[in-house]
Amino acid sequence: MPDSKPQSAATLNYAADTATARDAQRARASARAILPVDRREFVRFPHLYRVLHACMIVSFLTLALTGLSLKFSYTSWAAKLSRLLGGFETAGYVHRFAAVVMFFTFTVHVIGLFKQKRRDKTTWKAILFGPNTLLPNKRDLHEFVATIKWFVGMGPRPQYGRWTYWEKFDYFAVFWGIVVIGSTGLTLWFPVFFTRFLPGPFINVATIIHSDEALLATGFIFTVHFFNTHLRPEKFPMDTTIFTGHMPLAELKRDKPREYAELVASGELEQHLEEPQPEIVVKTIRVFAWIALGTGFSVVIWILYAMLFAYR
Ligand code: HEM
Repeated sequence: MPDSKPQSAATLNYAADTATARDAQRARASARAILPVDRREFVRFPHLYRVLHACMIVSFLTLALTGLSLKFSYTSWAAKLSRLLGGFETAGYVHRFAAVVMFFTFTVHVIGLFKQKRRDKTTWKAILFGPNTLLPNKRDLHEFVATIKWFVGMGPRPQYGRWTYWEKFDYFAVFWGIVVIGSTGLTLWFPVFFTRFLPGPFINVATIIHSDEALLATGFIFTVHFFNTHLRPEKFPMDTTIFTGHMPLAELKRDKPREYAELVASGELEQHLEEPQPEIVVKTIRVFAWIALGTGFSVVIWILYAMLFAYR
């Protein structure tokens, strides 16, 4: 065998893209001849991120269900839900418990960022302004404009990289949401403490902000975030990447062509490949994800019903 270090189908596929058509045919034929079937997938999210996202889903759904059952307590739906939970008072306790889980998830994520920085021996400047930053930058603006052009048939699909502009938006929406909903929620939880240094009417203001920001957050996540992640034609009916951590190579190549090209060019693609998760894990994940999606969509329908037909 001439090759001492066998290359994966992924690397050969990339070579095939850039070579002439005949070279490409030869590369594919030789890949078939020398490689066993390469089932490995691209690892997009490490283990900690998958666990934290699952905690975020469970805590957010619990907060939305219990919080909205208080907000729309005059609807029969809310009465049934809170009876199921043991009454409106218990719903309030469950709400507070889920809030603690959400604060904990957020704190672990921030600590994880510091640990990652130390492990990768990098700087905050490189993390915040490097090519794979989660901060919005000029390229995102260009990709946003290019995406609109693509939507109306005036250009090709942009060569998205590690994070698209809408993924960055979703990420920071959580930061913003936790600051606004979290701080007002704590004010409602500990009114005596907060009114030691804030004027009393601020409790009323905090209730309005908390309540309306909750509507905004649930409305956004269960429609825009769900559509962008699961319902767009390439992903329909569900994208399990955040749960399994894996995505097929073909999907990486189609969805994030710039990231794929950069990984191949730097020779780092191989170290991000792993065997797929066992079938039973994928099936369990699908059941969990279907329950989460179904609950989210039901909450949207409930909000619409309460706002349009029963609002008080
Ligand atoms: C993350 C930290 C949060 C804390 C500390 C918190 C805390 C609270 C507290 C103490 C109340 C008053 C409950 C009662 O009267 O028994 C409340 C109400 C409420 N919460 Fe939260 N909450 C948080 C997050 C959320 C989230 C993420 C949502 C929705 C997505 C939400 C939606 C609501 C709603 C709709 C109400 C009822 C407000 C009203 O009466 O109009 N909360 N929250």
